[in-house]
Amino acid sequence: MKDSDLIRAARRARRQAHAPYSRFKVGAALETASGVVITGCNVENASYGLTICAERVAMFKALSDGHRRFRRIAVVADTGAPTPPCGACRQILWEFGGDLEVILANLRRETGRHQLSDLLPLPFDGRLL
Ligand code: THU
Repeated sequence: MKDSDLIRAARRARRQAHAPYSRFKVGAALETASGVVITGCNVENASYGLTICAERVAMFKALSDGHRRFRRIAVVADTGAPTPPCGACRQILWEFGGDLEVILANLRRETGRHQLSDLLPLPFDGRLL
């Protein structure tokens, strides 16, 4: 799959975002090792703290569908500056996706590209338990 296809899927998912409080809509598209694309959007809650980011929605959807190996994730927001995954999402992505490629984009162009290990140096994970 081309990068542009994954980014397009994340842009489409972003349209489903439920973000009435922040008005900050995010879409994510996670590619499994076998090339399946699972999307997510942020879903906010009036309590604020129960909000879940697009990246975690995509990962949990994928896990609940039985996917266990992942290649990369595209994250899209309508911002000039890159919107990288928050700390909680980095931890969850690392747990289940390992050193994923993280592609950042807005509605027009790619805004960044990173390995998750660069975004989450010195991770805490199951190997330390
Ligand atoms: N958000 C995401 O969904 N992913 C990110 O990478 C950054 C933040 C959401 C959470 C909240 O609904 C809104 O963006 C503002 O923080």
